[in-house]
Amino acid sequence: MAKTILTGDRPTGKLHIGHYVGSLRRRVELQNSGEFDKIFIMIADAQALTDNFENPEKVRQNIIEVALDYLSVGLDPKVSTLFIQSQIPELTELSFYYMNLVTVSRLQRNPTVKSEIQMRNFEASIPVGFFTYPISQAADITLFKGNVVPVGEDQEPMIEQTREIVRKFNSVYNTDVLVEPEILLPDNKACLRLPGTDGKAKMSKSLGNCIYLSDPEEEVRKKVMSMYTDPTHLKVSDPGHLEGNTVFTYLDAFCKPEHFAEYLPDYENLDELKAHYQRGGLGDVKVKKFLFAVMQEELSPIRARRAEWEKDIPAVYEILQKGCEDARAVGQQTLAEVKDAMKINYFSDAELIRAQQEKYNA
Ligand code: TRP
Repeated sequence: MAKTILTGDRPTGKLHIGHYVGSLRRRVELQNSGEFDKIFIMIADAQALTDNFENPEKVRQNIIEVALDYLSVGLDPKVSTLFIQSQIPELTELSFYYMNLVTVSRLQRNPTVKSEIQMRNFEASIPVGFFTYPISQAADITLFKGNVVPVGEDQEPMIEQTREIVRKFNSVYNTDVLVEPEILLPDNKACLRLPGTDGKAKMSKSLGNCIYLSDPEEEVRKKVMSMYTDPTHLKVSDPGHLEGNTVFTYLDAFCKPEHFAEYLPDYENLDELKAHYQRGGLGDVKVKKFLFAVMQEELSPIRARRAEWEKDIPAVYEILQKGCEDARAVGQQTLAEVKDAMKINYFSDAELIRAQQEKYNA
């Protein structure tokens, strides 16, 4: 069976390093591994509109930001199809058919939707479009027969629900048209949910605790140097704690052993650095400077690539337009198979027409 990646992001803002360690970095590795037959990366504007419907301008403005972030981390449009969700009408059509296969109570149990409803104060009155976005996400994945979905941990309930829809569809319509996807989570625990620079559990624009992929070097330095560490580590000689210490969590996400020889040769590896911090005698500033150097090594080529693409915005839109055309061709093919399986292919089925005539001839 073909190996196909399908994943994407809502264009509600620029992408940050939480997106990067949680999924983007992995996508690029998978792309460059050469192991996949097809890679689809989708800008989920229609999904973003489910809770930003009154603010389409925000979604519109952020399409190009997300596309630039994709290109700058190294997604290669010659290998990966970058496209925009709303431009594929087959997605909407497929979602409509999937709605028959999902109950309201099943949607209500989706933990991600549950917490998002709370966050958005939708409890009293939930827009139907928002409530049903897991169904549309199942269409996103299955229209492209994606079997590997590299995403963050919060997307796990969506993939589970997609798998249920696939099984239900294939069994109800007695077919194997649809493919069950597997989620691909980061294998490094620190990357599962990178905390904000203030130590809060989640990096989010509204909390102002993000480091963006597009932040200039000096901005990143400032954010790293003022990062939350261990509030009980007042003097350098005090023993420090790693639990909840953002600087060390970021080091877990970014640091490789070879960084020590390069930037901090007094230590062999991260374990030694951590041990010294816990014993006492290692100041936060030294660790932060090291973290900045490590991050700079990873982020500076990304910034450089972004700067190149920023000079040719029309080319980026052309990449997206071409991506939409390619994605649509694939989507049309799958939708035709789906409609065949559902027996809503009235005009291409000569046997149906013949049998109906037969009925009246009898
Ligand atoms: N829900 C994802 C997010 O919030 C975006 C998304 C939409 C997606 N459709 C998808 C991710 C399909 C993976 C597969 O970031």
